[in-house]
Amino acid sequence: MEGTLLLVVKALHLWMVVSWFAGLFYLPRIFVNLAMVEPGSDAERDRLLLMAGKLYRFMTPLGILAVALGLWLWLGYGFSGGWLHVKTALVASLLGYHWFCGRILRDFQAGRNARGHVWFRWFNELPVLVLLAVVFLVVLKPF
Ligand code: HEM
Repeated sequence: MEGTLLLVVKALHLWMVVSWFAGLFYLPRIFVNLAMVEPGSDAERDRLLLMAGKLYRFMTPLGILAVALGLWLWLGYGFSGGWLHVKTALVASLLGYHWFCGRILRDFQAGRNARGHVWFRWFNELPVLVLLAVVFLVVLKPF
């Protein structure tokens, strides 16, 4: 029973991680498009803002569940090691990134965004690099 529950929790953890990342990858892409909207194109701007708002509300509980299930694995099944500490620090940076996306969304909603689409293209790549590092850490457990 114990072994099966561990595998179920890990499966749910991966499910929530993948779902959260769908939002972490797509929301900044919407920001790229919002930063390229021509002045006066209110219909396009409003459509993109509606999508971004719904996506942010959808991906927030996914992030919370991904982390909660990870903590259940860590604290419930005695995982340990340097890899887990570095992984958790990287996950903390992802939570910061998620929160910062919320701030950027509010800037766009208030019409006070000052960043250009190139900035958002680089910003969009950060979760890709974090995911690469986390997956190698958790699968190889190098330290
Ligand atoms: C504080 C948050 C998190 C904690 C404490 C945590 C902890 C863990 C633990 C203890 C495992 C089991 C490792 C094993 O069975 O060998 C695990 C599996 C995994 N975690 Fe997390 N995790 C967290 C968040 C994340 C995030 C945000 C990602 C993706 C970026 C992630 C990706 C993975 C992957 C891919 C596995 C499966 C590894 C395997 O089956 O070998 N985790 N996690």
